[in-house]
Amino acid sequence: DYRHVITVADPAALAIAAAERVLARIAANGDRVAICLTGGSSPKQLYQLLATDFYRSRIPWQRVHWFIGDERFVPAGDPLNNMSMARAAFLDQCAPASNIHPIPTATADPADPDRSAALYEGELKSFYGAEMLDHGRPLFDLVLMGVGPDGHTASLFPGYPALEETTRWVVGVPRANVEPFVPRVTLTLPTLASCREMLFEVAGAGKRAILTRVLAGENLPAGRAGSAGETVWLVDQAALPEDFRG
Ligand code: 6PG
Repeated sequence: DYRHVITVADPAALAIAAAERVLARIAANGDRVAICLTGGSSPKQLYQLLATDFYRSRIPWQRVHWFIGDERFVPAGDPLNNMSMARAAFLDQCAPASNIHPIPTATADPADPDRSAALYEGELKSFYGAEMLDHGRPLFDLVLMGVGPDGHTASLFPGYPALEETTRWVVGVPRANVEPFVPRVTLTLPTLASCREMLFEVAGAGKRAILTRVLAGENLPAGRAGSAGETVWLVDQAALPEDFRG
């Protein structure tokens, strides 16, 4: 378990650095690749970049599968739907439909987010080919993450029971701690940890306070999330805590 912080100038440089890491993780695996995407605004530039000719032509789309770390109970096509955002930004133009694995929330009952969670857990297990995660064989090649103002990551909010889950791969969250205050479905910490690399993207002055707390080791979800392999925090200058400034 190895965590490091990489600093870049600004959001544009951050998207390029993230795209290069996506390419590197794909190149490192000559077989079927699994990438877990994230929602929020932070990854949008990266997603748009992957759809440009330079990156698009370097990705073997047929063998790359795209998952999502958490989802919100909003209608399909709503820009606040995490997978819809990723689809609009790049997946629908680039990836085969059968390689896109959304969490079923749009057609599901918001009163029962655990039901959607169970369906997605089944899909992940069938993709992985086992009921138990094996330390030597990560589920994902790459897991993208972001950090929220309260220190949440995916839909793992501070103090919520979902954070302590050790058995289930995916759980329902009846109400989010931040906007949109809708039910959510989230992968759990052990599931997210089952990856070769976990990559956080953090940009903007608005993130500096929470990033300072997370990197100082405060007990917050984003700080507890980590890969069994490599954990990388990609941070732009505006978000960089005082202690990390040169
Ligand atoms: C979600 C995201 C969430 C996000 C952070 C950061 O569904 O809300 O997965 O974990 O990464 O809230 O969001 P921003 O990128 O919008 O700041």
